[in-house]
Amino acid sequence: MTTTPDRTAPEPTVLDLGLPDPVRDPDLPARVRIHEVGARDGLQNEGTLVPVDVKAEFIARLAAAGLRTVEATSFVHPKWVPQLADAEELMPRLADLPGRHPGLRLPVLVPNERGLDRALAHHAGEVAVFASATETFARRNLNRSADEAMAMFRPVVERATAAGVPVRGYLSMCFGDPWEGPVPIAQVVRHGLALLEMGCAELSLGDTIGVATPGQVKALLDEFTRTGVPIDRIAVHFHDTYGQALSNTLAALRSGVTVVDASAGGLGGCPYAKSATGNLATEDLVWMLHGLGIETGVDLAALAETSGWMARQLGRPSPSRTVRALLGPTA
Ligand code: HMG
Ligand code: MG
Repeated sequence: MTTTPDRTAPEPTVLDLGLPDPVRDPDLPARVRIHEVGARDGLQNEGTLVPVDVKAEFIARLAAAGLRTVEATSFVHPKWVPQLADAEELMPRLADLPGRHPGLRLPVLVPNERGLDRALAHHAGEVAVFASATETFARRNLNRSADEAMAMFRPVVERATAAGVPVRGYLSMCFGDPWEGPVPIAQVVRHGLALLEMGCAELSLGDTIGVATPGQVKALLDEFTRTGVPIDRIAVHFHDTYGQALSNTLAALRSGVTVVDASAGGLGGCPYAKSATGNLATEDLVWMLHGLGIETGVDLAALAETSGWMARQLGRPSPSRTVRALLGPTA
């Protein structure tokens, strides 16, 4: 007797079927911590203001999808980044999240002491300063030279650390600059060491305009290691302008990096570097990491749903290949 297939039954998704099929590579870390930047780096470049309740829901959904470091916003000058001018309104809306998701970290960006005061007044548990490896970007992004910016960060790092608030140090334009071209490794290392020496717990190396390639990533990480920086203090932050972000991430993992920045749905860019497009999409990263048998704690289906929801809020499809593959091309 033949049975008629039940055409009304929902088709299993690739994730239900156990894809990607995990194959461990013993040379790669067993676990990676994803530093989710979608609500900050992802949204800061959006021209249309996103309502604060949508931002709060985005962050809550990211936490519910298993992300445990979710950068929430920036306490920068509101005129410089109008999209994040609602930081004070957003923070109270996030207050109950760490109780609901033990271990959740919600870092915020602060450029100066004024930013730190605002962040501490809203009980930020972790902050980040953001330096530049090049002069032109320092002036455009921070209105001062690279060294003057470092001097601005020093009291921020000291005061935050004294208050028990760990500080991440971002360094932008580590692999190329839209005005200056190639950036010498020695220049990147000098500024990176300055951030670590002033007390930043972690250094995130930014490919702000997405021009890096894997050999360059390895060479830069080798140089930091050679100068004695433990690899567990370094994170990588790739934008995907030229489609290299995943390859660059794999190179970084091979060098021992275990903290990778990414943005849900591939949102992002930098308002002060027009050639920067979206960050590495968190879903594309998670697909690769799970395929390599690397633990992330992230529920990929829930994360992709979140990015699909956010794409609908923004009124355009997600740039993430994985989100579109999982949810359909209009997601
Ligand atoms: P400035 O104009 O030189 O500031 O901007 P100032 O120190 O001369 O102060 C001028 C006025 O601004 C004063 O007010 C200050 O109180 C006020 P007045 O006395 O005239 O009434 N002010 C502030 N108000 C609120 N919050 C503050 C603040 N600071 C000063 N924090 C500044 C200097 C750094 C403030 C400005 O350049 C700025 O806000 N820049 C932020 C740019 C930014 O957020 N860029 C995007 C983030 S970086 C990024 O995306 C890269 C990354 O993803 C990694 C990668 O991809 O490479 C991290
Ligand atoms: Mg960035």
